[in-house]
Amino acid sequence: MTNRRRILVIEGLTKSFPAGFWRKPVRVLSDLSCDVYENEVVGFLGPNGAGKTTTIKILNRLAFADAGKATLFGEDVRDGKELRGRIGFMPEQPYFYEYLTAVEFLRLCGQLCGMARGETDSRSAKLLSRVGLEDARSMAIRKYSKGMMQRLGLAQALLHDPELVILDEPMSGLDPMGRMEVRNLIRELKTAGKTVFFSSHIISDVEVLCDRVIMLHKGEKVAEGRVEELIGSQILYIELVVSPVLAPGRLAEAGIPPGVGETQGDLLVLRAPGTREANGWMAGLLSAGCSIHSCLPVKKNLEEIFLERVGEGGVEGKSN
Ligand SMILES: Nc1ncnc2c1ncn2[C@@H]1O[C@H](COP(=O)(O)OP(=O)(O)OP(=O)(O)O)[C@@H](O)[C@H]1O
Ligand SMILES: [Mg+2]
Repeated sequence: MTNRRRILVIEGLTKSFPAGFWRKPVRVLSDLSCDVYENEVVGFLGPNGAGKTTTIKILNRLAFADAGKATLFGEDVRDGKELRGRIGFMPEQPYFYEYLTAVEFLRLCGQLCGMARGETDSRSAKLLSRVGLEDARSMAIRKYSKGMMQRLGLAQALLHDPELVILDEPMSGLDPMGRMEVRNLIRELKTAGKTVFFSSHIISDVEVLCDRVIMLHKGEKVAEGRVEELIGSQILYIELVVSPVLAPGRLAEAGIPPGVGETQGDLLVLRAPGTREANGWMAGLLSAGCSIHSCLPVKKNLEEIFLERVGEGGVEGKSN
């Protein structure tokens, strides 16, 4: 990791917005520092109002920090107008000229990025089919559903084949099939050597997709690391799935204490607190004539880590 290039570097980013009748500044980003390496997929997690969109807007020159610095490809985002060609960006609420069709809209985007017409048309045909909008390519965007707009927003972000793709909630508004397609698209971008930084509320998607995760809460970073590191090696319990379901008396004879299992159809699911107990229970169950269908160590998942970090014990909001 360390010999890889840092594509995105955020150092001490701080931002306040005026709020309320007295326009008192309320801090929404506090001394945020984090980075994204070349060819990484990094998930940006945080509850509503955590500051994800504000950070992403700062990276795209749609908002400006009060303090701190953000660089992309080594260039300060405030002076990096030429950076646009290297970055694909999908905002949280993409805005479209709704009387245009998808093809016309992408042509406009291609022109704005300085792409040749032929290249724009061939890339847009490929991308529209990739995001499932092939049949709607000539329909006015005002007739699009929310999910279709989201898909068009993705096609727009990828049109100029950028090196870094920044997506603000790319899965929002998509049906399960659409979410799966976006997951596959992000995987394809990684395979093609691209770098992806995206915010999401869908923690299970982040868990399966991301090399690393940055968690934000009330404008402060509360966790950053590889998914496996954050989850850790601690095993919460060992789950045993056995059948047939034994009566309480026979379970006690097999050495299983009360209150550690539940019946799921024809199966009995037991939670052993550790390996020693699991081994003892399995021996007892086998001698009682049970079959053991699975024995699985269960760790925390990213969602539990997220709730721990942003739950009651999270960072308090600040105003200055
Ligand atoms: N232009 C603005 N003026 C005033 N306050 C703003 C402005 N933009 C954002 N905020 C405030 O900044 C905080 C962070 O908002 P932001 O949109 O960055 O959160 P987010 O993490 O993207 O949340 P969500 O998950 O809901 O999209 C919120 O309290 C929001 O009200
Ligand atoms: Mg947001």
